[in-house]
Amino acid sequence: MKIVIVGSGYVGLVTGVGLADIGHQVICVDLNPKVVRMISLGVSPIFEEGLDPLLKKNVAAKRLAATVDLKNALVDSDISIISVGTPFDGKNIDLTYIKKAANDIAESLFSASPYHVVCIKSTVIPGTTDAVVGPILERISGRRLGYDLGLCMNPEFLAEGTAVKDFMMPDRIVLGVSDNKALDVMKSVYKPFELVDLIVTNTVTAEVCKYVANSFLATTISFSNEIANLCSTISDVDVVDVMKAVHLDRRLSPILPNGRVVPGLMSFLMPGIGFGGSCFPKDLNAIISYGNSKGYSLRILEAVMETNRLQPHSLLSSLRNEIGDLSQKKIAILGLAFKPGTNDIRESPSITLISSLLNFGASVNAHDPVAIPEMKKNFPDLNVNYFYDLKSAVFNVDAIILVTSWVEYLNLFESVVLGETPIFDGRRILDKNKYENYHGIGLNSGSNESRNS
Ligand code: UGA
Repeated sequence: MKIVIVGSGYVGLVTGVGLADIGHQVICVDLNPKVVRMISLGVSPIFEEGLDPLLKKNVAAKRLAATVDLKNALVDSDISIISVGTPFDGKNIDLTYIKKAANDIAESLFSASPYHVVCIKSTVIPGTTDAVVGPILERISGRRLGYDLGLCMNPEFLAEGTAVKDFMMPDRIVLGVSDNKALDVMKSVYKPFELVDLIVTNTVTAEVCKYVANSFLATTISFSNEIANLCSTISDVDVVDVMKAVHLDRRLSPILPNGRVVPGLMSFLMPGIGFGGSCFPKDLNAIISYGNSKGYSLRILEAVMETNRLQPHSLLSSLRNEIGDLSQKKIAILGLAFKPGTNDIRESPSITLISSLLNFGASVNAHDPVAIPEMKKNFPDLNVNYFYDLKSAVFNVDAIILVTSWVEYLNLFESVVLGETPIFDGRRILDKNKYENYHGIGLNSGSNESRNS
């Protein structure tokens, strides 16, 4: 099938490369000529595990091309996939790019296949596909839904760092379609994945699926963090043990004949310094705001966001309890990326921590294996000392805060001499018994000191 990807950012590019790899003819369209040039040369403009070689392979095989020219790309195309950004403006998601993409596609649809499906991949609030995209397409193209035009909402479930694997080995495919004809086309797109669980529904339900999937994951994180904060107020309680006991409920981790299954969700049910990234905060805010517009307050999700907002501050209070006034103190931040495996710093708890530390008058040393350039680019005025060398970053500091669970930090004990320097483990990945002055989220440090003494 000939597929046009409109918007070749993170989701669009991974989707385009994946679709080309399963045999489709794909053209990635983007407004940015630099992005187009790089893709055409087989060089990924984004850092994503496994993407570069797959892109090269499919460009070389002439299954994938890139252009700024949407009109030409649409000639004889069967499907266009809209994967443009839907930024949150503080109140609503901004549909400007979605509307523009729909408009641009509609204007050039005359040259596409006699039946063409427009598929929305971007995360959009419920109703957008039917009430916004559909009418633009029909009005401008002159085509009619159900006859020569189909609509599909096909949410993406790609996580940064594993996006290529998530695409090539999907856990589920959700197809929200306008009619059966559109469904048949979309089923042929995903034919190689016919054994994967498929949810066929209408477009609005598909839109809701995406928000609820992310809301659920974010809720598990804030739930664990709230319990962690409670545990840290109780002497001799460690939330890690508490959550382990929760994990081992056979309804969460079933016991099969070959042993226990440990679902990936278990890592979300561990305490930490809070979630970030380009998806959870934006999507939760958007669905809360959508709920309000419908007269329904999503109280749990509001609390999830509030717990998440407070989480870095709760670690800072423990830090101040331990070392007192922060002015003139030097603090090492280990990890800037919002999670390991990416250089993405969007909504990373490290940003809140660094800003607060600087406001308190502390000086900050920051280490990250890959995200330092991103940090410098996005926050050029932030007065931080950046280090690529871990030992130098923690040398002579008053305290260390571990923010991102990079593997580099797992053996901090072996790699750097910490002595009595307090270490605040924001991810609970370190062995608390190996450090003289360990503080972990959800661990009452008083009890730990006595345990270690
Ligand atoms: C998330 C979802 O996991 C994907 O399924 C979804 O497709 C994607 O959003 C999206 O909407 O596009 P992503 O934001 O890349 O993917 O990253 P996650 O691995 O889910 O992590 C999100 C945040 O939760 C990070 O800040 C991470 O540090 C935090 N997190 C994650 C935890 O605090 N604990 C965990 O156990 C896992």
